[in-house]
Amino acid sequence: MFLFLARCLSHHLLWWCLLSWFAKPTEKKTSLSTHGDMRTAFMTEMKAENIKQFLYNFTQLPHLAGTKGNMHLAQQVQAEWKKFGLDSVQLAHYDVLLSYPDDTKPNYISIIDEHGNEIFNTSLSEPPPPGYEAVKDVVPPYSAFSAQGVPEGELVYVNYGRTEDFFTLERVMGINCTGKIVIARYGKIFRGNKVKNAELAGAKGIILYSDPADYCAPGVDPYPDGWNLPGGGAQRGNVLNLNGAGDPLTPGYPAKDRYVILGGHRDSWVFGGIDPQSGAAVVHEIVRSFGKLKKEGWRPRRTVIFASWDAEEFGLLGSTEWAEVNQWCSERNLHDASPLIMCVIIMRA
Ligand SMILES: *[C@@H]1O[C@H](CO)[C@@H](O)[C@H](O)[C@H]1NC(C)=O
Ligand SMILES: *[C@@H]1O[C@H](CO)[C@@H](O)[C@H](O)[C@H]1NC(C)=O
Ligand SMILES: *[C@@H]1O[C@H](CO)[C@@H](O)[C@H](O)[C@H]1NC(C)=O
Repeated sequence: MFLFLARCLSHHLLWWCLLSWFAKPTEKKTSLSTHGDMRTAFMTEMKAENIKQFLYNFTQLPHLAGTKGNMHLAQQVQAEWKKFGLDSVQLAHYDVLLSYPDDTKPNYISIIDEHGNEIFNTSLSEPPPPGYEAVKDVVPPYSAFSAQGVPEGELVYVNYGRTEDFFTLERVMGINCTGKIVIARYGKIFRGNKVKNAELAGAKGIILYSDPADYCAPGVDPYPDGWNLPGGGAQRGNVLNLNGAGDPLTPGYPAKDRYVILGGHRDSWVFGGIDPQSGAAVVHEIVRSFGKLKKEGWRPRRTVIFASWDAEEFGLLGSTEWAEVNQWCSERNLHDASPLIMCVIIMRA
């Protein structure tokens, strides 16, 4: 269970938690008198069937950050975490800059002939997965925070678009990317760095694509028969270069060693079947299980904050805003508050 979580979500979760450290005998004297008892009771309470149902429930509609769909899910999570028995469940609102495509003019790429006629166009949207044909508000594939414009130029293939790939092109192959449109496959490095490297090389545009060599596991069918990316599928993501400002673990972060913060994000580009709802469903079941033990009289030794972050996809914005604002954690409220608290972070564009 925990291995699964760590593998699926290592870069999405804020996860400072070793459960057995924080259990303590409660004043009310329940049967959970040792750390080991608490751990066993907790693990016994966690049910795979619940996680499956939560995952199904969380992936029926799109939950793009800053949209009504994701706001409704926040309210649902809030209501359910209250029902699970947490002491306090808060929604925190922040206004941040997000980036959406123009509904009326979806992005596409064309090949043009010598007269400027478009002789090939990419599709404007992804084919919906079976069963999701009627779902509205699916954002077309795009790269959030990319510059606007209609660049035109010759194409240069730049492999993964890493620094060493541009070095090889320039120094070994003698190919100059200035004024060109570069085409890079996803993988190896953050897509925002591919864009930055292309910019540094003088490119006017960049096309990112998922190469089957990297995105097709041998012997596995494409979704819905297997879990490989279907031929019409496209990766969505942000190309923001925040230089680490979006990482809440960077230096300058106030010591919050008195709390245990456990959570993951809730927003997804579309349905979020893997990212993030596979993790959010597990967090939901953890909260339910903690709530159950709490109702039976157990209290944690330290305050536990559960979080359901927003706008992770746009550059870890929800968790970062919360960490910045909640330097108050170290001074106020929480020392005096009852030990189980969670925050759902909502953001609006
Ligand atoms: C998810 O579950 C909640 C709580 O049971 C319910 O209110 C909601 O309608 C469900 N959502 C979907 C999309 O099935
Ligand atoms: C591509 O799209 C443009 C704009 O909608 C259209 O004028 C052009 O005919 C299309 N080309 C092809 C090959 O479909
Ligand atoms: C690439 O081409 C541009 C414009 O033609 C030129 O300014 C630049 O010096 C060239 N770079 C290299 C490394 O030759």
